Amino acid sequence: MPDRNVDLLWALRSPCNLGCTYCYFGTIEEHRDRPALEVGRLSHLSRTDLGLPEIAAFVATLADSPVRRIFLAGGEPLIWPPVLEIVEEIKRGGVEVVLCTNGIPLGRDAVARRIVELGVDAVSVSLDADTAAVNDRYRPARNRKDGFDQVLAGVENLLRRRAEAGGQGPRIGLYAAIGRHNITAINTVPRLAADLGLDYFVPQPVSLAPDHALHDELCLRPDDIERVRAELDRLWRSRPVALPDASYPDRFVAAVTPGAPSRVAACFGGTFLHFIQPDGSVWDCPSALRIAATEPDRRRSIAGRTAAELFAHDGACGGCALFSADCVSMWPLTGFGSFLPGGVR
Ligand SMILES: C[S@@+](CC[C@H](N)C(=O)[O-])C[C@H]1O[C@@H](n2cnc3c(N)ncnc32)[C@H](O)[C@@H]1O
Ligand code: SF4
Repeated sequence: MPDRNVDLLWALRSPCNLGCTYCYFGTIEEHRDRPALEVGRLSHLSRTDLGLPEIAAFVATLADSPVRRIFLAGGEPLIWPPVLEIVEEIKRGGVEVVLCTNGIPLGRDAVARRIVELGVDAVSVSLDADTAAVNDRYRPARNRKDGFDQVLAGVENLLRRRAEAGGQGPRIGLYAAIGRHNITAINTVPRLAADLGLDYFVPQPVSLAPDHALHDELCLRPDDIERVRAELDRLWRSRPVALPDASYPDRFVAAVTPGAPSRVAACFGGTFLHFIQPDGSVWDCPSALRIAATEPDRRRSIAGRTAAELFAHDGACGGCALFSADCVSMWPLTGFGSFLPGGVR
């Protein structure tokens, strides 16, 4: 059995029941008019998502591989009917599973119960505010009905199912995308998490291309740094739930500071962490800069390949000179073991 020290962030499938205005996948409306065809571009309209047979064939190879933990994201992973079959197979291969979800599908009993039965290790739920008014403005549902209330109902349902199992079940946490509109969510959302009885919280800066229609409205600017720093300091002092390690506030601030060093020595991207796109493409990490810099002869796919072939490495971590807001949320992924029973792994 090889050492298990590789984590995968896998955007399993593209579709989503929400239409978050800042989503990395863009919006269906914009891509209807202008299909997103460039290498590495994500789209909720993707017609190139791998199907169940190709996904299942790759998952069947995980047991004999260095993969330790898979973060299943999307799109919305929990609206794809076979997702829990895939989770079962991943767990059978001895790999930990963290589900990254908008939380609404957790309101379905069959989903919440099965997540607990399968021994899913953690469920990370996205919520950008402690009020519906702020959260739902930028995270609207495509059916124009669901939002904050349904996310909370989903989280509470999963908590109930975990309690019924005697507390044996996934760790549950909240993720908030932080922009100019919700800087105070750095503290209000983890307080909500604590009140609900959840386990961890991660704030991440909204990251948008400079030409995105919402870039100026949402992306943090240098004149927000003082407020952001004060909120982060307050959170790391009060720690209402588990948080990423103490280096994280500095990385968050660096990502929005002009002229901050862009070089990351010994980056884990491409060695201990990889990103898989819904079409099966494998990248060093989800950073748009890093994907754009990938030489064509280094492009790979999980289709028809085994996890052992794809993720074998000699432990040498290369540095990266492309640090950006896209990268910040990768640190809590590589340090995720501290949120799980048994602490840092
Ligand atoms: C793409 S979503 C996929 C999983 C699931 N649908 C969800 O919303 O949690 C993964 C995470 O990326 C965050 N996210 C999406 N677009 C972002 C952006 N432009 N900048 C920062 N975070 C973003 C979401 O808020 C969510 O926490
Ligand atoms: S719920 Fe997740 S995948 Fe869906 S639009 Fe929002 S951020 Fe994107």
